[in-house]
Amino acid sequence: MRLCVNGCDKVVAIPTGATLLEALRNQLGLTAARFGCGLEQCGACMVLVDDVPRHACQIEVADMAGRNIRTPEALQEDALGRILIDAFVTHQAAQCGYCLSGILITAYAWLQSLDHLPSRAEIATQLDHHLCRCGAHPRILAAVAAAAKARATAVA
Ligand code: FES
Ligand code: FES
Repeated sequence: MRLCVNGCDKVVAIPTGATLLEALRNQLGLTAARFGCGLEQCGACMVLVDDVPRHACQIEVADMAGRNIRTPEALQEDALGRILIDAFVTHQAAQCGYCLSGILITAYAWLQSLDHLPSRAEIATQLDHHLCRCGAHPRILAAVAAAAKARATAVA
């Protein structure tokens, strides 16, 4: 079947019932979205489907025909994505980094439509469904806050 991934048409040959995450990682070599729980509980596998964050571990790839899929790799090609990545680097938000690509996808989708500087509590609420086993939460929250501020400055 054909998939639109990061702005490009891709052809994948996948077994019946395969997930979007399997197609991205195993067929297309896009490994930034990661497999954690496989149960929509950790957020490591998040991608954007028509600009909405979704758990790629639970989406059947057969349902993705005609949808616009963006993976964490695409954030490097986007102004807000680069602001977020820079903030995460500046704040050394990664320990192992396994959780971060999913967190970046959620933060990106949220900040895109945000019209104010978020409080720490708001950021924590937005990221509440993401698990970070390393306990890097304080640095992750600081990085998202810094990205929100940098974005506000950039669009002012
Ligand atoms: S791997 Fe998809 S939510 Fe954990
Ligand atoms: S930095 Fe290791 S799981 Fe979050």
